[in-house]
Amino acid sequence: MAETQPEKIVTEETQTKPVEQNTTQVVEEKKEGDDQIIDPYSGVNLSGKAIDYNKLIEKFGCSAIRPDHLERIEKLTGQKPHHFLRRGIFFSHRDLDLILDTYEKGKPFFLYTGRGPSSDAMHLGHLLPFIFTKYLQDAFNVPLVIQITDDEKFFHKGDDKTDLEQYIKYGIENIRDIIACGFDPEKTFIFSDTGYMGGEFYKNVVKIQKHITWNQLKGIFGINESDNTGKASYPAIQAAPSFSNSFPHIFGKSKDVPCIIPQGIDQDPYFRMTRDVAFKLRYPKPACIHSKFFPSLLGINAKMGASDPNSAIYLTDTPKQIEKKINAHAFSGGGKTKEEQEKYGANLDVDVPYQYLTFFLEDDEKLAEIG
Ligand code: TRP
Repeated sequence: MAETQPEKIVTEETQTKPVEQNTTQVVEEKKEGDDQIIDPYSGVNLSGKAIDYNKLIEKFGCSAIRPDHLERIEKLTGQKPHHFLRRGIFFSHRDLDLILDTYEKGKPFFLYTGRGPSSDAMHLGHLLPFIFTKYLQDAFNVPLVIQITDDEKFFHKGDDKTDLEQYIKYGIENIRDIIACGFDPEKTFIFSDTGYMGGEFYKNVVKIQKHITWNQLKGIFGINESDNTGKASYPAIQAAPSFSNSFPHIFGKSKDVPCIIPQGIDQDPYFRMTRDVAFKLRYPKPACIHSKFFPSLLGINAKMGASDPNSAIYLTDTPKQIEKKINAHAFSGGGKTKEEQEKYGANLDVDVPYQYLTFFLEDDEKLAEIG
């Protein structure tokens, strides 16, 4: 995997903050000694230690979702906020308040999310942003655009032998799974980069590219001179759907409809960059709402990966296979012996089956009872 993993981004907490300053260049210094390395390409770092999400909020310069946000969302939507919000699974944001203000004033906004099609089988963790986006679309009744980044995966995962068509095919397979989440067909636009790039969308890509320097790319994404140049051109392509005039068939010429982007926290570097560029282009900065990582079956800090099929539950697994994976492979927080279990009880924080229930069992009382 060496060629797919750029140098890791390691930043000192204070050095990540200038990103929010509109006029300064975004340059993040690499520095040894930070054990929480989280970026779009390394995925979950891990030194084996639990991720400190509060520290991550501070380091990235985003903000925590607070109880008063939940109250406000409940008031505005007239329904209990999604359990991903109630349980802190979506835990961080940028400018969520501005989007709620927009909604309160009866003005339009839209949702943007995406998927990098790296294989034909998606697993449960991949579904989180889509399940949450579906809730947001229903609760706020807004348009949604979903970007399928077949180009990104070709640049980052493909070796010389993997052909682009393969990633395009994965994208089509993944779209089937994404559609199954139940988005409103009238209000949802799903596109692949290789299929859609052109016209107004490409004009935005070009404008964005003009505002991204090599220093920024190196600092934010850890790419360097020996990487293929696709990796350098790509971040502008993930930025472009943040702006409403990239989609003239939905928004006409309007460039002022703001968006909010549900995403895993590892995607934040793209949108820190995008917010900086938005200011320069006089577009609204995209808002963000970030989720924690979905734990591997093998333990809350283990890495979920294609290399070990027992580390994740795939959407293609049968109920029988899922049962077997959970019973045979899921990390248990139970005591080592019967006596220990009776004396101390289970450690639910590390018990993967219980953790999975926090993601997928909506009923708070039932969850508490099982706990
Ligand atoms: N880079 C993301 C991935 O690898 C795909 C993506 C594109 C995305 N646009 C997005 C994810 C917006 C979240 C929000 O999966």
